Amino acid sequence: MKARWFLMAGLLLLLVPAIAFGEDKPAYLDPTLSPEVRTEDLLSRMTLREKLGQMVQIDLGQIGKGFNEVLLERAIVEYGVGSILSGGSGSPMINTPEGWAKMANEIQRLTSETRLKIPVIYGVDAVHGHNAVPGATIYPHNLGIAATFNQELAQAYAAETAEEVAATGLHWTFAPVLDVARDPRWGRTHETLGEDPYTVAEMGKSLIIGFQSSGKIIACGKHYLGYSAPNNGMDRNPADFSERTLREIHLPPYQAAIQAGLCSIMVNSGEVNGEPAHASKYLLTDVLRGELGFTGLTVSDYEDIRKLWSIHKVAPTRNDALALAHNAGVDMSMEAGRPEIVDLMESLVEEDKLPVSRVDEAVRRILMVKFRLGLFERQPADPAVAKRVIGNEQSRRLARQLASQSLVLLRNPDKLLPLSKQIPSILVVGPAANGLSRLCGGWTIGWQGARDQQLTGRTVLEAVKGKVSPETKVTYIEDFTDEDQLKEGLDEAAVVLAVVGEKPYAEWYGDSQDLALSYDQQRLLKTIADSGKPTVIVAAAGRPLIIDEQQMNMAALLWAFLPGTEGGEAIADVIFGDVNPSGRLPITFPARIGQLPMPYTVKRTVPYEPLFPFGYGLSYTQFKYSAIQAPERVKVGENITITVKIKNIGKRAGDEVVMLFVRREYASVTTPLRSLQGFARVSLAPGEEKTVKFQLTPAQISILNPRMKWVEEPGDVGISIGGIGTTVTITE
Ligand code: GLC
Repeated sequence: MKARWFLMAGLLLLLVPAIAFGEDKPAYLDPTLSPEVRTEDLLSRMTLREKLGQMVQIDLGQIGKGFNEVLLERAIVEYGVGSILSGGSGSPMINTPEGWAKMANEIQRLTSETRLKIPVIYGVDAVHGHNAVPGATIYPHNLGIAATFNQELAQAYAAETAEEVAATGLHWTFAPVLDVARDPRWGRTHETLGEDPYTVAEMGKSLIIGFQSSGKIIACGKHYLGYSAPNNGMDRNPADFSERTLREIHLPPYQAAIQAGLCSIMVNSGEVNGEPAHASKYLLTDVLRGELGFTGLTVSDYEDIRKLWSIHKVAPTRNDALALAHNAGVDMSMEAGRPEIVDLMESLVEEDKLPVSRVDEAVRRILMVKFRLGLFERQPADPAVAKRVIGNEQSRRLARQLASQSLVLLRNPDKLLPLSKQIPSILVVGPAANGLSRLCGGWTIGWQGARDQQLTGRTVLEAVKGKVSPETKVTYIEDFTDEDQLKEGLDEAAVVLAVVGEKPYAEWYGDSQDLALSYDQQRLLKTIADSGKPTVIVAAAGRPLIIDEQQMNMAALLWAFLPGTEGGEAIADVIFGDVNPSGRLPITFPARIGQLPMPYTVKRTVPYEPLFPFGYGLSYTQFKYSAIQAPERVKVGENITITVKIKNIGKRAGDEVVMLFVRREYASVTTPLRSLQGFARVSLAPGEEKTVKFQLTPAQISILNPRMKWVEEPGDVGISIGGIGTTVTITE
């Protein structure tokens, strides 16, 4: 009798879940349960092929331009791929905000034809706004965002971009780049947050928090690890650097990003010290998981698992490459065009070359991201909302603010700037003067950049016309190679505005052997210099360039690190004084190409003699630093509180980026002459003085000792801010 009661009770318990959620609704579909519980329930229901499908990401751009129903259905329904991406040029057939939303909805509809109806996670390179979509506000590229040293604004930009990405039905941006720039000859320097590990870490954190704060999308720190250090700066060239460089330079931004909650990481396409990153168990598991404690998902870069076999030749066959990468720690393969990879992976498992436990670990991470994003409950994107959100007024205002704060004034001889709006005449000339594509650079609408017609915003010329008085004669010369026409324009002009720079590029297309302006632009600047006219040079470039000294010395020089579609307005704002420039260099400007690589964190035995140093930038006003204060002595393990006064001693309001540099007077290893360990933007009215406070943590002044252990060593620490300094002695 008793047994029967127990049996009845057991049966009842089994029925509870079903009763609680209606007819056999599985736990993984219950949003009231935790992502962990839902993940384990779903994983327990999946076949091996269904699991393997989650580990594959297919590029919309490869499944027939735009939208090929048959190939998509095959990838999603037949192979059950877990993710779709739009790479540099994978836009929907109708490339409008509504077109993106409809395309994303159709893809999710296809998943409803699968057994478990697992939503696809859709990734896109929204790296300076939702830049794949025509009409979207294009923000400055990361190097420009870094030049603002404005973490709050960077976070606001990322949050706004997250809204736009989500409004079009996407869930994942492959941003921010956390690579630390080492050599401006590299074609992706503009995608970095500069050459300083602390700046990259701090600005990267702000972007990640901004992208992820709404919970609608996830960010992706890339390209782990050391991708920005190819030998001679050529993209995807081998990188050779010491374990010390790995840990002092390249790792800190990822450590900070993971502490800020980064949900995904993309792997470096290149090799580090002889081992492709995609094959490195040391980097992908021992360091990333074991040391940094990363629990999110790792995704390969584009077709890079296959390249372990086809290019790096560290795997004898395609299958061996798959086993090598997934066992090293890559969770998802950006396979791009071949969902059939699932078949190969299935054979690897059957041949015991890829353990089911490793598959489960990868799929668990992927499902956790999907549950945390609420993808199973996510409503279809509303095309009308997408249309309304993309390129909205708030995003344009934000982009203009970021762009104007990103501009770095490098020279202003005779205080030529700001120009009067009443100037009698101005000649505007140069290839970036009357277009937007050069202000935006690569990864804009298309991988290698946009056509002007695809972009919304005012060019520099249009913005200048909007600034000057009705009596001002504005001349624009489109064909600046026509010497006679140029000389005629020069004769008539009171001031010349030359807007030069680089054509848009992305990845290896941007590699440069000489950092030189094109020959026709060099001739343009020489002709202008020979005229002796007051000149303003604006350079729209994704990195430092080498400009001829004579041509540069004759002019005011304003650097625009690809300021985006509001860049024209922002440049005019600064040139005519509506905005006081406050950008600071996030990267060293070399005087000669032969100095490279020369990040500012040089050691003591070599001179640091750049054209313009890291952190440099002029203002239309002047600031005076005083009263730097810090304790004379602190004990090992204690924070150091430093304060400094800063006063605006000029006649105009302005923002200053207060930068705190640290140097060890001596240590168990050699240390940089300067290392940025704090920055803060301060707005000051004329005559206003403020006190800025910094907290230096022990970690910030710890030393990676000869045994490769981070230790807090006693000794003297030099603190310098704005050219004044003090010393703090750290005692046992
Ligand atoms: C590219 C880039 C990477 C990008 C990915 C997807 O090759 O290296 O930064 O996110 O492919 O477009």
